[in-house]
Amino acid sequence: MAIAANKEELAAQLKGRDFLELLDYTPEEIRYLLDLAIELKRKQKAGEVYQPLKGKTLGMIFEKSSTRTRVSFEVGMFQLGGHALFLSKNDIQMGRGEPIRDTAQVMSRYLDGMIIRTFGHRNVVELARNSTIPVINALSDQSHPCQVMADYQTALEKKGRLEGLKVAYIGDGNNMAHSLMIGAGKLGMHFASASPEGYDPDPEIVKLTKEIASETGSRIDILRDPREAIENADIVYTDVWASMGFEEEQKQREKAFANYQVNEALAKYAKSDYLFMHCLPAHRGEEVSEGVIDGPHSVIFDEAENRLHAQKAIMAAIM
Ligand code: CP
Ligand code: NVA
Repeated sequence: MAIAANKEELAAQLKGRDFLELLDYTPEEIRYLLDLAIELKRKQKAGEVYQPLKGKTLGMIFEKSSTRTRVSFEVGMFQLGGHALFLSKNDIQMGRGEPIRDTAQVMSRYLDGMIIRTFGHRNVVELARNSTIPVINALSDQSHPCQVMADYQTALEKKGRLEGLKVAYIGDGNNMAHSLMIGAGKLGMHFASASPEGYDPDPEIVKLTKEIASETGSRIDILRDPREAIENADIVYTDVWASMGFEEEQKQREKAFANYQVNEALAKYAKSDYLFMHCLPAHRGEEVSEGVIDGPHSVIFDEAENRLHAQKAIMAAIM
């Protein structure tokens, strides 16, 4: 992939943008953010102070639980010199029915940036559309782009490249599947998913990603058979069978996904130096065996750490 020669141009075009979907970003912009994440990680490890967001405040609206996202954004903002406010939906008037568009306008008068974790993706879009400050998608039912930035940063660090790598996603065609697929399409990686019938990724997103993939040389395969999907994979990814908001379907999903566990028997078909990834939280013994998630191929805690660095890069670039 041609990395745009002009970093200043890329930096300028990112200022003030929302970060809602990887679809909204060019391959060069995504690659720029990944490189910046790696650079900010280096700075932090070297003890170099880097505070471009001094005096700025980030609002963090959460309608769902979170460990990694909440802590990494709050710590990231602190490290960049700014301040973060945790806004649980139950504690702000949005939880009592104040319209998102009013919340957006009010918040824009106080804050310099906002993140939102919510159910329907339209909430993210509505918040962004009515705000005059950058809005970041911290997970919706449709997508989780911040997680994928951390995941592909991890892959880049471990493999030294992204283009041409194969990502196999085994399990629910959910928010993680969508963002991993789009990111792969944008970055020239191959993506193969295997999900049981009724749990495939959204066909609209698949269609859009395939169009992108035809320009970047990536290949997108939506399959049924986990063994076919995992064949020769460089990265093996899975996620919970019942995402937040789908807890009442747990039992029915356990049945549907019974043959979709990533375990040692399945992982044999991946490349011998494959990386195992999971966004966490994980359910050992369900979507992944203990041997795989706690085994030598697993990079789950590097991914979790990179949430911090990847999101610092996003905030530093757009705020
Ligand atoms: N992976 C992730 O987003 O984790 P949390 O739900 O803990 O934020
Ligand atoms: N698919 C999961 C991801 C959690 C980070 C969920 O939405 O609950």
